[in-house]
Amino acid sequence: MIKVLFVCLGNICRSPMAEAIFRKIVQQRGWEDKIFVDSAGTGDWHIGEPPHKGTREILTKKNISIEGKKARQISQSDLSNFDYIIGMDAENIGNLRRMAGAKSTGHIARLLDYVPECSQEDVPDPYFTGDFNEVYDLVSEGCHHLLNDIVAREKL
Ligand code: 4NP
Repeated sequence: MIKVLFVCLGNICRSPMAEAIFRKIVQQRGWEDKIFVDSAGTGDWHIGEPPHKGTREILTKKNISIEGKKARQISQSDLSNFDYIIGMDAENIGNLRRMAGAKSTGHIARLLDYVPECSQEDVPDPYFTGDFNEVYDLVSEGCHHLLNDIVAREKL
């Protein structure tokens, strides 16, 4: 099983959206038995909460399920259990690298770095910008490129 973990700050806006979009593409391509998807936050403020209303609304509009998701904080064991740990912005990556310390950090990457010539490097935080449509478009594009990369790399 290839394990992919999406990470943001609160695990209520961006990373649950990425988890849901990525899982849907994985299912559409018939790889749900090969790829496991999850998400977590670097912060602990929203542990146990469902995704933000803005994330739930846009996912419902796009017919993508995020049923049952509750926010959780990333743990040290996630760093060794997951094959791909995908942060939404430079701050997430900095936090993840600090957590990983001297351990191998080769599997920690920023989502939009998978998108060639992307207009942005970081997925903006809609908790502060309020723009969930922009986040959906960026995350969706990132997820498609990430999956193509994983499929090529893992020879699926
Ligand atoms: P997320 O957004 O990292 O995309 O889930 C945030 C959610 C909550 C907070 C910050 C960002 N907060 O400060 O509580």
